[in-house]
Amino acid sequence: MEVFTDRVAVVTGGASGIGLGIARALGQRGMKLMIADLNEETIESAVRALRVEGVPAEGVRCDVSKLEDVEGLAAATLERFGAVHVLCNNAGVGLPTSSRNIKLEDWRWIIDVDLWGPIYGLKVFTPLIEAAGEGHISSTASMAGLISANKMGAYSVAKHGVVALMCALERELRSKKSSITASVLCPGPINTNISFNSLSYRPERADAVKTSTIKGRQGASIQASLESGMAPDEVGKLVVDAIENQKFWILTHPHWAKGVQRQLDALREDQSLTKA
Ligand SMILES: NC(=O)c1ccc[n+]([C@@H]2O[C@H](COP(=O)([O-])OP(=O)(O)OC[C@H]3O[C@@H](n4cnc5c(N)ncnc54)[C@H](O)[C@@H]3O)[C@@H](O)[C@H]2O)c1
Repeated sequence: MEVFTDRVAVVTGGASGIGLGIARALGQRGMKLMIADLNEETIESAVRALRVEGVPAEGVRCDVSKLEDVEGLAAATLERFGAVHVLCNNAGVGLPTSSRNIKLEDWRWIIDVDLWGPIYGLKVFTPLIEAAGEGHISSTASMAGLISANKMGAYSVAKHGVVALMCALERELRSKKSSITASVLCPGPINTNISFNSLSYRPERADAVKTSTIKGRQGASIQASLESGMAPDEVGKLVVDAIENQKFWILTHPHWAKGVQRQLDALREDQSLTKA
């Protein structure tokens, strides 16, 4: 996509962190923004911040794990701006979870938000973006979508699904010579409050992830790695660059791809998960 000015972008999970960074970067290129998120107050404050920066922005409450909410988001965007050109499926939750001990409620919640969210996004928005004639769909996965991390089972399953979804979409779009392009963002550590935000949204019955886990030693080490991570505004610029220059993979820490290579080497050489 070459022209950004006066075109319309929807960013889910756009009220904070990476989503707000993406919204800001798209706004700086002249796009109009629809911010979708869960909490009315954080949506309002993100919209206000964007408007102060001169970006035409609106916000709507939308739980991406509910199809009817995603349909409502599309309707609100068309009503306010008349078209959609860019969708960033970015809303997500992430907490450390053991694959063996995690409660089914936690599995469902993480898969519902992190994987069904992007699936609903594609289902609802692809025809609208096609109708606009040109555009882009980006989904936020993770490096955990390329390598399954220890103690991140449900998150890794969801994010591998997002990577597969976007690979399949991009191949389909290219095979039918569509004017839409797709990308998948696979961040390494980014300086956001994802751990604490996720804890605050976790369903009540899902207690496999104890607050103490996230506040304890493991939580502290995850938090420390996020705090020393890349700034969300920098991630936003990488997304704009990918949309403009038709890059499919968006890596914030490209050197981490060596881990993917090691896994492929082990697969070919001795069929272990990771060669010793
Ligand atoms: N921070 C990192 O290091 C990192 C690394 C890799 C991938 N990611 C991914 O980046 C994306 C953004 O995360 P972030 O780090 O900016 O964290 P964040 O918590 O700042 O942003 C996530 C946003 O999604 C929203 N959200 C959560 N559940 C939702 C739902 N059901 N419907 C709508 N909105 C919902 C939250 O309110 C929040 O605003 C996520 O998909 C996350 O998995 C983050």
